[in-house]
Amino acid sequence: MGMSLPPGFLDELRSRTSLSQVVGRKVIWDNRKSNQGKGDMWAPCPFHQEKTASFHVDDRKGFYYCFGCHAKGDAISFVRETENVDFMEAIEILAREAGMTMPARDPQAAQKADRRGELAEIMEQAVKFFRLSLNQQAAGAARDYLARRGLDAAAQDRFELGYAPEGNALFAHLTGKGIDPQKIIDAGLAARPDDGRAPYDRFRGRIIFPIRDPRGRCISLGGRAMDPNARAKYLNGPETELFDKGRNLYWHGPAREAAGKGQPLIVAEGYMDVIALVQAGFGATVAPLGTAITEDQLRLLWRIADEPVIALDGDKAGLRAAHRVIDLALPLLEAGKSLRFVILPEGQDPDDLIRASGAGAMQKLLDQAQPMVQLLWSRETEGQVFDSPERRAALDKTLRDKIMTIRDPSIRSHYGQAIKDMRWHLFNPRRARGGAMQSRKWQAPGTPQASTKTSLLAASDDRVQEHLREAVILASLICTPELIEEVEPQLERMECSDTDHDAIRGALLGLHGDDDARAVVAARVGEDALENLMRIPHVTICPAVRRPGDLEQARLTVTEAFGKLAALRGLNAEIAEAEEELSGVADEAVTWRLRQAAEARNRALRSQQEDKATYDQGPNGLMIDRDERSAFDALLNKITFTKPRR
Ligand code: UTP
Ligand code: MN
Repeated sequence: MGMSLPPGFLDELRSRTSLSQVVGRKVIWDNRKSNQGKGDMWAPCPFHQEKTASFHVDDRKGFYYCFGCHAKGDAISFVRETENVDFMEAIEILAREAGMTMPARDPQAAQKADRRGELAEIMEQAVKFFRLSLNQQAAGAARDYLARRGLDAAAQDRFELGYAPEGNALFAHLTGKGIDPQKIIDAGLAARPDDGRAPYDRFRGRIIFPIRDPRGRCISLGGRAMDPNARAKYLNGPETELFDKGRNLYWHGPAREAAGKGQPLIVAEGYMDVIALVQAGFGATVAPLGTAITEDQLRLLWRIADEPVIALDGDKAGLRAAHRVIDLALPLLEAGKSLRFVILPEGQDPDDLIRASGAGAMQKLLDQAQPMVQLLWSRETEGQVFDSPERRAALDKTLRDKIMTIRDPSIRSHYGQAIKDMRWHLFNPRRARGGAMQSRKWQAPGTPQASTKTSLLAASDDRVQEHLREAVILASLICTPELIEEVEPQLERMECSDTDHDAIRGALLGLHGDDDARAVVAARVGEDALENLMRIPHVTICPAVRRPGDLEQARLTVTEAFGKLAALRGLNAEIAEAEEELSGVADEAVTWRLRQAAEARNRALRSQQEDKATYDQGPNGLMIDRDERSAFDALLNKITFTKPRR
């Protein structure tokens, strides 16, 4: 507003203001906890839901602090937050209450304000004229158009819709009322051609949407052509002393009020979307004004709500717009401030959706709005294949670079953590989805489901490996139970990857004397589960199973399998640690280290006695069997990203 406060004004205001009085209008004090004499006041916090009184006001110091949600500040910030107003407005409110007069504006600012007031007055005249024009005979087509779009008289009034007639009707009307032509031009309503001929109306033959600032002053207009072949579908007023496209929002004032009452703040793409959303009950909706969302607009949005929802058309342009907003928003993020995104179904905007499917459909989309980090993740991973270490390292770098643009260190680390979690979910789909590993039913290898076939094995292949080792150990011990006593400590410590394995292990550990191991196990887990175990190809060909009772052979097989399990699980720990590092935003060393670990594991896993019928060239020129080779490949996949599966 170009207003500046004289030195000492704020101090005076603070000393005259009683914070407990200001706060007292919004809370109910806890009288038992409070000590009025000492200015030590407690109440349930007005900024978050609670039953206890964690909100503390120190009336002498003039500060408040909530021990629950950590909201803190002084009288000015309290008014800003609770009334949803800006700094100057908060001061005006408090000054009025304190009986202080707002300082006079400096002469230059006063002059500027007068001039803006004058232009705003002309805008108001134009709005009135366009409103009246809509009811005139020449506006029949405009009324039909609005009716076709479902905008009845009440809606037309609410949004002050008007009609700009053909010709230069507005200019003639305003000059006829004695208004200076230059001021009509300065207000952006008319333009003077280069060749010096008479000024002409900017808006002709269009539906008019007045644009107001949050205090309700008309600062510009939008105009929609009814003719589908018009030069431009929408025409927005030019930049003027009143209007800065990038610093204003359509429907700003009413949306701010609605958001203050708890409505979610939605950012739509255009006028008609705002109107449709507001009409459908989403009162806190705004739109930028014919440009992409700007930094200034984001700041405005965050002053209204902590987590505005950006609703974008379900097409390529909409997605591109979302990505632009992400890049813009990341550096600006502050504690508690974020964005969510709703991408509409292909080919629909909110107006289309509400018309086709109603407000409920919109609400459903809002309920599923994606957090920003989710969209960031899918933008970098979706539809891409990360089939080489270089590509994977490049992805790590891209995500890291993005995260590094976040200036707030705490938010930066939370984003790193969220990305880490998404990697985890991607790489460990079973564990992540089902929760308890133990409860899942194992899909017999050899009959892969369609989905696992295409999943590049990634994480699950590692699980297959672990599961196979367990199976080999259990089957060998069933065939040669004499060995159990020797390996009891390891068997006891072995973590089983499914309930059957766990039960079989339990049965084996509980064997007495010359119990029939097979029978005891079958009794515990059932014939089917035992059959399943013994039928796994890897188990069938295992020498210890082929030669039951051969203690020497069983010892070799089981010892080696335990070794491999340890190597596999050790690597998993390494991966978890590396993912941890990504959350601290480490560097390519993560990828490199995992490769090293994978190679070390590969050496440990190199088979010495299992079926060596198929060989392949290992990463360091060593011969390894194909089974191990694929395990190694799966590991490399594991440290990278594949497209999230649904
Ligand atoms: P859209 O092209 O998405 O139109 O423009 P819309 O909002 O769905 O409008 P209807 O439903 O066809 O009437 C979205 C916004 O982009 C700006 C306007 O602000 C519009 O509201 N725009 C669009 C322009 O400034 N000029 C144009 O020619 C088109
Ligand atoms: Mn539309």
